[in-house]
Amino acid sequence: MINITNLRGLILKSTKIEEAVEFYETLWGLKKIDSNQGNSAFFEATGDEGFILGLVPDSQRGIETIRFALESPEDVDNSFAELKASGQKLLDKPDKLPIPGEYYGFHLQDLDGTTIELSATTKTNKNKEKDPFAPQRLSHLVLNSPDNAALKDFYIKCLGLKLADWYKNDLFFFLRCNQQHHVLGVENSDNSSLNHVAFHVEDLDAMMRRIGVMSNAGYEPLWGPGRHGPGDNCFCYFEGPDSFVLEFTSELIEVPDGEEWTPKEWIPGPENANVWGTGGRTEKAIKLMAGKES
Ligand SMILES: [Fe+2]
Repeated sequence: MINITNLRGLILKSTKIEEAVEFYETLWGLKKIDSNQGNSAFFEATGDEGFILGLVPDSQRGIETIRFALESPEDVDNSFAELKASGQKLLDKPDKLPIPGEYYGFHLQDLDGTTIELSATTKTNKNKEKDPFAPQRLSHLVLNSPDNAALKDFYIKCLGLKLADWYKNDLFFFLRCNQQHHVLGVENSDNSSLNHVAFHVEDLDAMMRRIGVMSNAGYEPLWGPGRHGPGDNCFCYFEGPDSFVLEFTSELIEVPDGEEWTPKEWIPGPENANVWGTGGRTEKAIKLMAGKES
């Protein structure tokens, strides 16, 4: 049994690191950490995770690694042994990872070839600055996939995630691993790519303040502010560097400890996509969330 405890972070391939660093530091509310990693850049939020976002230079944008947390180094070793015994192809063996922080883990690929890290750390990063309106951690990310039903099965059967909710006709599956309603979504698409990545802020007020920072810098939302039906989270999406879609979110459903969650089907439509009725996805949002560049 693989016991993923959280979505730890995301490392992206970026074609414009310098511009991206400026964006994430001055507008998105993250802080670049010191690392001896060449032109790569790593960012912390105000939570305890060593870093939640990494950017590595590349000629093509895309996902480098999706990072999931395991409870302990022993759990890393046990998970590796279990996956290996089940015949899962693994990319390396458990070791200290060549990224900032003291992470011990290994890598495998999902069905679409996206690299996944399973890691543990005994170090927590108590951040010095506590901007109450800055992102605290990653909330969730959503992947596009030509066979999202098979990809959903992979994350459930192979990595132990659980189905939270889904949209009718296999359009979209929400997957969970802890009290949070979802940490991963898989959407049906014509390609494998990042649909969007969401950053958790304290509450609705913090989200509106983040929107204010973006608006004052000339960034209009791609979609939002609004509130989703599945997960009940408030949201606002923006276009970030490399045309990645970034979301500020808060108030995602937390399933009380020890309580069962019964997954349910949702009907696609504007009334569920945004229960506030403040509008649906713009054409640009649809295009960028489908993994296309602007
Ligand atoms: Fe989202």
